[in-house]
Amino acid sequence: MKFFVDTADVAAISELNDLGMVDGVTTNPSLILKSGRDILEVTREICGLVSGPVSAEVVATEADAMIAEGRKLAEIAENIAVKVPLTWAGLKACKALSDEGRMVNVTLCFSANQALLAAKAGATFISPFIGRLDDINVDGLDLIADIRQIYDNYGFETQILAASIRTVNHISDCAKIGADVVTAPPAVFKAMANHPLTDAGLAQFMKDWAKTGQSIL
Ligand code: G3P
Repeated sequence: MKFFVDTADVAAISELNDLGMVDGVTTNPSLILKSGRDILEVTREICGLVSGPVSAEVVATEADAMIAEGRKLAEIAENIAVKVPLTWAGLKACKALSDEGRMVNVTLCFSANQALLAAKAGATFISPFIGRLDDINVDGLDLIADIRQIYDNYGFETQILAASIRTVNHISDCAKIGADVVTAPPAVFKAMANHPLTDAGLAQFMKDWAKTGQSIL
């Protein structure tokens, strides 16, 4: 399973990237706002750090304007994946940009039918939003499982990029279902290392070690 980091915070990306944890990055207009940076400048910096796909999102709502914005974003670096929303206009932009050989991430997916359309339009990635479905009392993981089944039934190569990840359990559940990629905030990836039994076990080892009076170095 690939790990994409869902942030435009360069320092946070860098820390995880140094550990070999980063297979790609996803951004969106809200994350650009949070970074306080210029979209072209911060995206260029991220693309210089990470060799995998870096999603940069268009903000136009008409297909022609989305395509123009997508081409401009794709000029930033070879590893840009142009992110378009799952609207009819977004699907048109997806088809045009993927026909030009560009990576396209279709975002804001909330149904299996939307994911089917994105695959037909040549999407490289489909981004179903798990957390936002959970927010409205719909099991977001069921959507990941449905898309996995549909894509496998017909051999679609579009990669399932599970997004709107809020918990560490979302990540292990997506891995069990077979999502190709998860994108999550840096804090969620870091929280995966935590376990209270690890903390308790380590505390006991440290206590006993102190009693030996030994040192390794
Ligand atoms: O990439 C966008 C997505 O991950 C948003 O997550 O937590 O704002 O629903 P969230």
